[in-house]
Amino acid sequence: MSVPVAALEPAHVSALREDLDGWTVDAVDDLLGDRAARALHREQVTPALAAARDAGDDRHALLTRLFLLGDRLTRSEAEAALPRLGAEAAARAGLLHPEGDHAASVIELSPHAAADGDTQADWWVASDPREAITGRAVAEDHVLGVGGASTMLASVTMRTPVGRVLDLGTGCGIQSLHASLHAREVVATDISERALAYARLTHALNAPAAAWDLRLGSLLGPVDGEAFDLIVSNPPFVITPPGAPRFEYRDGGLEGDEVVGTLVREVGQHLNPGGVAQFLGNWEIRGDWTARLEEWLDASPVPLDAWVIQRDALDAAEYAETWLRDAGITPERDTARFRAAYEQYLRAFDASGIEAIGFGAVLLRRPMHGSPTLRRLEEHEGQLPTPLGPHLAASLAAHDWLVATSDADLLDHAFTVAPDVTKETYGRPLLADPEHILLRQGGALGRSIRADTALAGLVGACDGELTAGQIARGLAVLLDVPTETMLAGLAPAVRELVRDGFLRR
Ligand SMILES: C[S@@+](CC[C@H](N)C(=O)[O-])C[C@H]1O[C@@H](n2cnc3c(N)ncnc32)[C@H](O)[C@@H]1O
Repeated sequence: MSVPVAALEPAHVSALREDLDGWTVDAVDDLLGDRAARALHREQVTPALAAARDAGDDRHALLTRLFLLGDRLTRSEAEAALPRLGAEAAARAGLLHPEGDHAASVIELSPHAAADGDTQADWWVASDPREAITGRAVAEDHVLGVGGASTMLASVTMRTPVGRVLDLGTGCGIQSLHASLHAREVVATDISERALAYARLTHALNAPAAAWDLRLGSLLGPVDGEAFDLIVSNPPFVITPPGAPRFEYRDGGLEGDEVVGTLVREVGQHLNPGGVAQFLGNWEIRGDWTARLEEWLDASPVPLDAWVIQRDALDAAEYAETWLRDAGITPERDTARFRAAYEQYLRAFDASGIEAIGFGAVLLRRPMHGSPTLRRLEEHEGQLPTPLGPHLAASLAAHDWLVATSDADLLDHAFTVAPDVTKETYGRPLLADPEHILLRQGGALGRSIRADTALAGLVGACDGELTAGQIARGLAVLLDVPTETMLAGLAPAVRELVRDGFLRR
């Protein structure tokens, strides 16, 4: 078991806040430079340690060494890093671990920056030190700091101003910090007391505008009978075969992909009308990847709008390698143990017919009124822009508008082609007309749509002046096609382009 998380007195928290003042992501980047920052991204700390040590007694350098890179400081360096709190008080509070005339931090504190819509924020996030820092495999009750999945969830979350937010499996509290920028009230839950202690420290250090109600318990248990406007979760979604090592931060206590299944089936009962749940997850794939999601969605007693984006699918071997390495089980450390555990994964997945494991982002919405109108399950493996939430929100709003708009009203509308849309044409050099026309989106989900001459002509004329119907009628004459045929052919394509952000209302 790990050492208990420091519970700082209010006076210590305000002193530490003053000591951390100005120690931001930008300050750390300036200090370390590009090479060390890139290496840190690859979990290599040596270049960063060298750069920070070279900066001598600079306070930001000392804070970086102490809290981010897990370096030991001399007593005088620790005093210089924490002039208000003081090294003695930090040690008494359980924040520093004295080692002779040196001291090391017990916890990891990392600066984190967010650009959510118009709001720019700089925070400090408290967690257990990463394996890359300690050099040891993490403990079963390890509390994760901000990682790739945390930032991905933060990026896809729609930042519409809301009343109540639930952050399920809050861990270090990163999603609650983001939520505090656009919510009145945040309920943050976790099955781990240790995680809640870190979330409490993260809250105290950043003093966000929204109050956090921290609750201990599993999945939706702590919010029985309550409803929210937004539920976010980077849940413990990892699929671990029986007998393989389990960790609180990645295994939710259920078998297979049941954590994600439970969320899809049950989260709707905790959403206010119009409320949205956004979470990440792994799912077992047997045949068509969408089948499992469809089955869970159909089992929700509250019918929901659903938009699932699968980002990746790993076969059993790739999955085993990823999560064994994450567990600190590597061939370099212990070849026999690694091979035995690896085989356990393969055999367990093969026995239950799992062909691959999907990873992606799930967006569920309880309709404001009436029945669901959206069920979209799609794959996107490429790079996604950050943040993606604004695009998802715009696309949902466009979808709602389209549902309420007849084809006649749609064609009566003057659209504008979005500035990130480009047209690519392909064809043999000797031919006057292209064989293929592709409309490509630079931002959002980077979609491309095959267009025929009529659709490309319509999009090319969407400058906000003429209605889609007027353009279509002109094209009918030009291309010698009956007007009704042209209108009926273009309306569904215009819907698709509006929904996906190629055309703006
Ligand atoms: C992958 S971490 C995510 C932490 C943080 N929210 C983030 O975005 O980085 C998952 C969190 O879920 C918690 N957890 C594990 N099992 C849980 C359960 N059954 N119910 C609620 N939380 C659970 C873990 O303790 C951990 O803090």
